[in-house]
Amino acid sequence: MSAYIALVPAAGSGSRFGAPSPKQYLQLLGKPLMWHTLSVLAAVPAITRVVVVISPEDEWFDCFDWAIPKLEVLRVGGASRAASVRNGLAALGAAGDDWVLVHDAARCCLTVPMVERLIARVADDEIGGLLALPVADTVKRATSDGHVSKTVSREGLWLAQTPQMFRCAQLLRALKDGAEAAVTDEASAIEMLGLQPRLVEGEAQNFKVTYPADLALARAILASSKEG
Ligand code: CTP
Ligand code: MG
Repeated sequence: MSAYIALVPAAGSGSRFGAPSPKQYLQLLGKPLMWHTLSVLAAVPAITRVVVVISPEDEWFDCFDWAIPKLEVLRVGGASRAASVRNGLAALGAAGDDWVLVHDAARCCLTVPMVERLIARVADDEIGGLLALPVADTVKRATSDGHVSKTVSREGLWLAQTPQMFRCAQLLRALKDGAEAAVTDEASAIEMLGLQPRLVEGEAQNFKVTYPADLALARAILASSKEG
């Protein structure tokens, strides 16, 4: 039987957030932000390994007490997210047909039911798939000077989230072949092989902490889920 392995790229610097430490290490309810992310993945019974990829120059990881079951650390992060994922996959030592669920460290409001929905919908798929959100708002294309040039139909448009779940060997091949600049998520690397990943409905709360204002929202969501 194929294993389910979570792979969490966490080698970014958080330049848009602009904090002294990378955003994955910011304090959130008394823990580093990505402690919440890793804990959710470890709480999914089907997932046997939670592997976090950090930078070889990372000075923060060892400063915290993680105490998360199934957690492993690889210090093989690269210059881009795709490189971090590719290096992590190469170092995993997984079987080629194992499923790998790649999830952004900065999406800390993921829940166990979201991951279980993805696994249930994708485990029988030939290719793999990802959590994504159908676009709810009206979409505008802008002119270069910030006016509306036209309204774009939102029909069939989705916003990609993570986890993104693919077979280990196929994803590694896709990321090796893919032109790095064009690859901003795992699905786009798979698409470049001519394949069509399955879209599974995610949730708005599974957003990526990117800017300082996002932290208050993440804190509110995590605090309310702990109360409830
Ligand atoms: N990431 C990574 N290796 C990189 C760049 C990013 O592992 N060289 C990880 C980040 O740590 C994050 C995820 O990929 O968990 C999504 O990236 P993003 O939100 O863009 O994080 P950063 O690159 O750190 O932020 P920014 O783009 O604002 O610098
Ligand atoms: Mg980035």
